[in-house]
Amino acid sequence: MIELNTVTKVYDGGVRALDGVTLSIVDGEAVAIVGPSGSGKSTILHVIGTLDRPTTGSVRIGGREVAHLSDRELSAVRARTIGFVFQQFHLAVAVRAVDNVADWLLYAGVPYRERRRRAISALERVGLGHRLRHRPHELSGGEKQRVAIARAIVGEPALILADEPTGNLDPQLAIDILGLFEEIHETGTTVLFATHDRSLLELRSHRIVVLNDGRAVDVPNGLAIAIDEAAPPVDDFTVPMTRVAV
Ligand SMILES: Nc1ncnc2c1ncn2[C@@H]1O[C@H](COP(=O)(O)OP(=O)(O)OP(=O)(O)O)[C@@H](O)[C@H]1O
Ligand SMILES: [Mg+2]
Repeated sequence: MIELNTVTKVYDGGVRALDGVTLSIVDGEAVAIVGPSGSGKSTILHVIGTLDRPTTGSVRIGGREVAHLSDRELSAVRARTIGFVFQQFHLAVAVRAVDNVADWLLYAGVPYRERRRRAISALERVGLGHRLRHRPHELSGGEKQRVAIARAIVGEPALILADEPTGNLDPQLAIDILGLFEEIHETGTTVLFATHDRSLLELRSHRIVVLNDGRAVDVPNGLAIAIDEAAPPVDDFTVPMTRVAV
């Protein structure tokens, strides 16, 4: 479903945030993207999410080459196929939880009653059926992140992209949110999330992509294998790991 072929991203000013990344992610996979600060995690999510175009290389989403699509076509791809979750939540201030979620469906042209019905159902799914009328400042950090997740899933996208979704949460909440992503994944959704938090990865055997200086190393069988093979120190993603062809 997602194919990156020798993708580079060079920002104005010359930073080479992605440096020849080749990666395939099939429908229904759950992939953790890890790596030190500045290694290109947000950049790769933006490129995959069509929020940003690569400098060179090919990005195909659902078989379509992103470079061949106009900005308008890309907006349509995003509205129909992709849900985003960001570390800083990005909720609309002073807007009730139900409308924060429902408004996302404006882009897809869903009528008001249907938007509201689906928003309530998405909020119930993330355990927030009792907070529909709360505004962001009346919600806890974990609840805000749940609203953001409800907004990401309300359009029933095939792909969820989450950039450090647990970065602002305490450890127990982070585990709960990870569990929510796993439930979403179990319904067949492809889930890609970037994280700094190695302890989260130790909970489950995710496929892991390690980014370092804009280069990607794929660890398809998760952290346990990576540790066996390379014995990296617990807080260090940067040690070389066995390179696996993708
Ligand atoms: N808009 C931009 N313009 C110029 N350079 C940028 C821009 N965005 C990111 N960079 C640079 O690209 C590199 C990769 O950034 P990116 O945000 O992808 O890293 P990251 O792995 O998400 O880091 P963090 O863990 O801190 O979120 C960094 O060196 C950063 O300074
Ligand atoms: Mg980042």
